[in-house]
Amino acid sequence: MKGTEPAERPERPTLVILAAGRSTRFGRAKQLEPVGPGGASLLEYAIHDALRAGFGRFVLVVRESRRHEFDARLAPLRRAGVALSFACQRLAHADLVPLPPPGRVRPWGTGFAVLAAAAALPRRGPFAVCNADDFYGRAAYESLARSLAAPPPGVRAFTVSYPLAGTLSAFGGVSRGLCEMKPDGTLLRMTEGLDLRLEREATRTGSGAEATAAVGRSAVTGTTTAGTSIRVDADSQACMGLWGFFPEILPLLAERFRAFLAACPGADDEFYLSEAVSHLAAAGRARCGLLPSGKGWMGLTFPGDRAGAAASLRQLTTAGAYPADLRTSPVHPEPAPRAQAPPVHPLQAPRRGVAIAPGRINLIGEHLDYNGLSVLPMALERNIRLEFEVLRQPAVELTGDADHGPFAFRLDRPIEPAPQGHWSNYVRAAAKGLLDHDVELKRGIGGKVAGTVPVAEGLSSSSALVVASALALLHANGKHVEVLELAALLARAERFVGLQGGGMDQAASLCGAKGHALRIDFGPLRVTPVPVPEGWRWVVASSLARAKKAGSAREPYNERRAQCAEALERLGRASWLEVVQADEVEFASIVAGGRRSLPPTLWRRFRHVATEGRRVIEAEAALRREDMAAFGSLMNASHASLRDDFGVSTAALDEIVEVARDAGAAGARLTGAGFGGCAIALCRESRAEGVMGALREHFYAPRGGVGEAALFVAAASGGATVTC
Ligand code: GLA
Repeated sequence: MKGTEPAERPERPTLVILAAGRSTRFGRAKQLEPVGPGGASLLEYAIHDALRAGFGRFVLVVRESRRHEFDARLAPLRRAGVALSFACQRLAHADLVPLPPPGRVRPWGTGFAVLAAAAALPRRGPFAVCNADDFYGRAAYESLARSLAAPPPGVRAFTVSYPLAGTLSAFGGVSRGLCEMKPDGTLLRMTEGLDLRLEREATRTGSGAEATAAVGRSAVTGTTTAGTSIRVDADSQACMGLWGFFPEILPLLAERFRAFLAACPGADDEFYLSEAVSHLAAAGRARCGLLPSGKGWMGLTFPGDRAGAAASLRQLTTAGAYPADLRTSPVHPEPAPRAQAPPVHPLQAPRRGVAIAPGRINLIGEHLDYNGLSVLPMALERNIRLEFEVLRQPAVELTGDADHGPFAFRLDRPIEPAPQGHWSNYVRAAAKGLLDHDVELKRGIGGKVAGTVPVAEGLSSSSALVVASALALLHANGKHVEVLELAALLARAERFVGLQGGGMDQAASLCGAKGHALRIDFGPLRVTPVPVPEGWRWVVASSLARAKKAGSAREPYNERRAQCAEALERLGRASWLEVVQADEVEFASIVAGGRRSLPPTLWRRFRHVATEGRRVIEAEAALRREDMAAFGSLMNASHASLRDDFGVSTAALDEIVEVARDAGAAGARLTGAGFGGCAIALCRESRAEGVMGALREHFYAPRGGVGEAALFVAAASGGATVTC
């Protein structure tokens, strides 16, 4: 729903984790087997990855006898605010099988486990299903969350698939759902393959992804459920039990289960989810999209699989993809929707109001947002303030300070840009963005814009103005757009001024959280507040050179963006995320490939993005464990990379960074796009005055002194608001 009635926040998907299996081949209960370096089980990695991908709640399907064990083990997650509930899988089910047939001891299988979870699922909204003893990788959950948020027409189910070779075990034959795809990317059918092993068994040493690398394109042999021998390509796609669904699948599954019961199953026959979905897809009753995932699956079929999985998790942890103490430092669920006043009915639209939107500093992660990589900014207490009256006619009439003269434009005519660099373009961008998003703006606003966030200093005064204008217009018209949707649409809208920016600034301004930095992820946009430790300060220092988004910074910024896209394409990579999340060995080989094949400038741009992307992951972990020395070193490395590889620093910014570090800052770097603007220095609270004093003396005094707007201590503030 686009900006009409109070839009409901789209439901975050729920993850159903199947943890009721009997671990027959593993020999002991494997769902809580410690595998990660800090003792976390694969199930805890699943929750961690899914939270980061935007999942909102978790339902664990367990056997009644083990419920307490799971409950105790996952208590830290619950304490951290993760919404976790349990569903017990029994042999009886009030609606489906009130009395289990005599002699039935074996659970009814994965399809039934999902039906057992149904009562614990929210009535609306999509859900995913995974196995507790499989590791699917963060990218898999992200791809699933994206697809569930915007399914192609008619597709109501998804499964993530993996190249078969990477899912085999060196320790015995395994069963896999072998997928065949239709030309439109949906599932044609899935066949259960049993006792699957690589044909060239002798050449294999490891398991999972390593094995794929070792064998290249060989074949896999096994049998069908009917006992016929099969031989399939090692690259064929295998379903590993990670699914996405909408609630309407549940009655269809129940119907399939009844059909299964009606066929008088033997005591060992199971109702598999894969078979049920495959049947529904083949019958044209549920189209199931296939989401091929490059790699990353690991599982525990046999006890011998554990060592390989543990080694891979160690590597991923060393590379910063996961905290070492994953069990005790869970990802915080996304913040609740915020930042906009309650929607007002158009007939009762207010007569006046005030919209306030903060600027931001970016702590680390520069020139990453438009590459789809996470960033770590925080909203500032300095803001843009728009005091407005609601106009009956659809027009915008605003005035600013002495440097920002009055302007007016209509909302009921095509919105054209004012000459390049004119401040009204940011307001026009907001209005056009809302109109293009089908928000009806019948009323206008008239008023005054003032601000405490310095203009063109790399602190996002421009995005703050875009955000404040949009909130004022929405409020004046009694309209509401969900906050992340608004952030994304305003990021696109701001490109009206010519700079092909990413989405960091608008999201930071809208979603700021007092006392918190914000990890912002893209595709889809998500914001996760990360607490900033007590006793540390970020000093903000202007280089006294303006970095105007619609002026001098525009062309070099757009050029960088194009260079990043070209570097990625030349390396044949699908996304930067894939580069940044590669394990250490693969990352080193990607980097070596880049050095060999890219022209010098593109190579340097590539190296900045790739290493900065990994620094953000490390920096977030450092912030969470309050290791500010590590955070400072990462800031220093970031600055060097922006200076030497990305070419966006200036002599003045370099000088500020040096003076601040010499005066005892734990780290310092330019913030924002660069080409002028500000640098930030991280220091202990007790050192902040000293660092500022050194900057005054060594940097500003020779340049004629400094005002309060150019040198200050940042405080992490809340996001934009609009009030009557
Ligand atoms: C500007 C853009 C952002 C981001 C930064 C660099 O602030 O508006 O989208 O790209 O530069 O990190």
